[in-house]
This record gives sequence, C-alpha cells and structure tokens, in this order.
Amino acid sequence: MAKTYSIAIDGPAGAGKSTIAKRLAGELGFRYVDTGAIYRTVAYFLDLLGISPKDADGVERYIDELTIGIGYDEEGIQHMIMNGMDVTGEIRTQDISQKASLVSAHKVVREVLLDMQREVARQYDVIMDGRDIGTVVLPQADVKIFLTADPQVRARRRYDELIAKGQKADLSTILKEVEQRDYQDTHRAVAPLKQAKDAVKVDTTCLDIDAVVAAIRQIVKEKIGK
Ligand code: DC
Repeated sequence: MAKTYSIAIDGPAGAGKSTIAKRLAGELGFRYVDTGAIYRTVAYFLDLLGISPKDADGVERYIDELTIGIGYDEEGIQHMIMNGMDVTGEIRTQDISQKASLVSAHKVVREVLLDMQREVARQYDVIMDGRDIGTVVLPQADVKIFLTADPQVRARRRYDELIAKGQKADLSTILKEVEQRDYQDTHRAVAPLKQAKDAVKVDTTCLDIDAVVAAIRQIVKEKIGK
C-alpha cells in the first residue's frame, strides 16, 4: 500500500481544532477525522442505555454492543453511525461533551477506539484531531500540532457559536465546563491530553482562523512538501 500522510492536531476543547482541521483537509485533499465525535458517540450510546459515564462496570459490559461507523457525505462532512443510526447531530450537546470527557477516561473505551482510528490513517491521508493523536494514536504522524488558547477565549468561542445557532448560553457556565473538561482530559490516567514532544505548539488566543491556517499550512509545507 502506498504511503499515506497523517497530520495530528491535538489540544483542549475550543482551541479551534475542528475548524482549522476541516479547512486544511479541504486545501490538502486529506480526509478530516474528528476523533472527539467517536467518543461522543460512545457517550451518547451509554446515555441512551441509562449507564453513567463514571460507571466502569456498566461501560465495560455494554461497550461491545456498540458498532460505530464513520461515513462522509458529498461535502466531506463526517457522519457518526451508532448501530446503524446517524447520530451526527445528537452528539453535539453540552451534556454529551461532558459525558464524552468522562467516558473517554476508561481504558476499555480507549482500547476499543484505538484500532478504528489507526485503520483510517492506514488507508487515507488524514488530518486527525483529538487529545492523544500525536502521543498515542499516531505517534509516527508526519506533522504534529498542539493547538491551544486561553480558557476565557475558548469559552467565548463556544458561547458565540451557541448564540449564532439561536441557542441559550451563559458565558460563566461555559467557562466552568471548559475548565472542568480541561482538568478531566489532562488528569486521566490513560492517554491524557498533553503536547507530544515533537509537536509544534500554536496558541490561537490572539489569532484569527486565517492566520492559524496559514501558520499550520507553512509547517505542513516544511515537513511534507505539500
Ligand atoms: O473534541 P471533542 O470536544 O468533541 O471531544 C469530546 C471529549 O472526548 C473530550 O472532552 C475528551 C474526549 N476525547 C479524547 O479523550 N480523545 C480524543 N482523541 C478525542 C476526544
């Protein structure tokens, strides 16, 4: 099989990973893989069954009953398929964000999802975003970016997104949730969020999307000539 290229983008919630990764994937002709959506699908599935995301026994007992599919529509948008059902929209709530963070701390969940993520990267040129892509999932990635921003700025972005969608939002609640998720994601025992030693850190606090895309585009060009 021909060599495939992989670009890993890790960082905390709201740093701009998915927006940036989608743009870059479009420009480079790579497949964008949003790994957070996979954890969200697990969280949503367990939630429907009434299993608490903290219940290790429950998570272990039911995880095998879940079959996850990843599909792409004609616009290149990733769709999450839970036991045959498209749940792409359902997994995008604040409640599922928190539950995904808790569910993702279980070793059994991370093990089940690891091969699935690696298999996509074996088959396609990918830009994969998440928390442990450069450290655990694709340690041999050709380019590794650690995208971050101040929590206040990340919370404000989430707030603006929700308001733009016509939803109710409270900035101080969102900031608390962002900080709680940061804490959980960086302090778990298995594959915590951290910058890979060979990742380039890009702080988006004071940068707009175009500037971040241009900066990463330059890094990609230097590393893989594309
Ligand atoms: O990127 P996101 O906000 O959709 O991710 C939801 C949660 O999933 C996040 O809080 C932690 C978990 N996650 C993870 O542990 N590892 C990944 N590679 C991606 C997400």
